[in-house]
Amino acid sequence: MRSMPNPEAITQAARLLRELALVAFPTETVYGLGADARSDKAVLKIFQAKGRPRFNPLIVHIGSLAAAKRLGRFDIRAGALAQAFWPGPLTLVVPMRTDAGLSDLVTAGLDTVALRVPGHKTAQRLLSEADMPVAAPSANVSGTVSPTRADHVAGAFGNQIAMILDAGPTDCGLESTIVSVAPGEPLRCLRPGSVTRAELAATTGETVADAEPGKISSPGQLRRHYAPAVALRLNAATAGPGEALIAFGPPPPGHKPFVNLSPAGDLGEAAAGLFAALRALDDAGIARAAVMPIPDAGLGEAINDRLSRASAPMDAT
Ligand code: TXA
Ligand code: MG
Repeated sequence: MRSMPNPEAITQAARLLRELALVAFPTETVYGLGADARSDKAVLKIFQAKGRPRFNPLIVHIGSLAAAKRLGRFDIRAGALAQAFWPGPLTLVVPMRTDAGLSDLVTAGLDTVALRVPGHKTAQRLLSEADMPVAAPSANVSGTVSPTRADHVAGAFGNQIAMILDAGPTDCGLESTIVSVAPGEPLRCLRPGSVTRAELAATTGETVADAEPGKISSPGQLRRHYAPAVALRLNAATAGPGEALIAFGPPPPGHKPFVNLSPAGDLGEAAAGLFAALRALDDAGIARAAVMPIPDAGLGEAINDRLSRASAPMDAT
């Protein structure tokens, strides 16, 4: 069932979560596919619906930093990041408390847990009414582009899930920034997102390192992950014969873009529309597209990360 996020629908969604059903809900980044994070039975349904490998851990969503501290251990850096960016598009990977009470499937057996307090009003209302930690990956079939609209979720799962809360297109359009905060380790950015490296560094006074290669099996680290069917050629000055053009800023003279991610060259606008644009190319049956260069600064790092994963060769894992 699909519903506007009115109070009755939120109450029903919270009840469905307590009954261990799956509920898709909007966050400011992408739509999530939620289940009670304390229940093996509920969390298993997420892995089955998505076709997600079991070794791939899930993000746990909670309503507040206080609730997060019941699940994970926050050092000074993690506390500062949570204060600065929660609620918002930041996920913190911290050591899990031994009494967290989460299903082992959520963490895939790791001794760390990924935590996020989303800023979207509907997500906040749902978390407060359900009053439980909610495990929620992006609500897409594993390996495909994340959903930024309820239509994308309905198209992937139809009646397989109990309820979809539809609050319209999401604001950020890219998945949350994931930062690992491990004792005695530098901060590591496991996935770039709307909270930029510069913002993380300014808050903690520490430079943010990259993920240790091969250390954590995060699908965000698989080379081809956000994968549309269309073959993408990146940093293209113009589209060649047989290629659709994905523009950013003014298109080259004489070229009519299939889509312009932001005619004004605004990175926020480009991020918000990127996944819907990739889906639109697939829906139109377009085989090849050329993408104009996106500056790599700030939010551009996250956009280019998703584009490079979307354009990696099909056989890459
Ligand atoms: O914006 C988002 O983060 C969305 C919304 C729904 O919150 N969620 C999302 O979830 O993108 P998902 O499952 O598509 O991506 C979660 C990422 C995966 O790459 C997973 O491997 C990583 O987080 N992850 C989860 N727990 C982890 C852990 N303990 N250590 C390292 N990586 C972890
Ligand atoms: Mg995902």
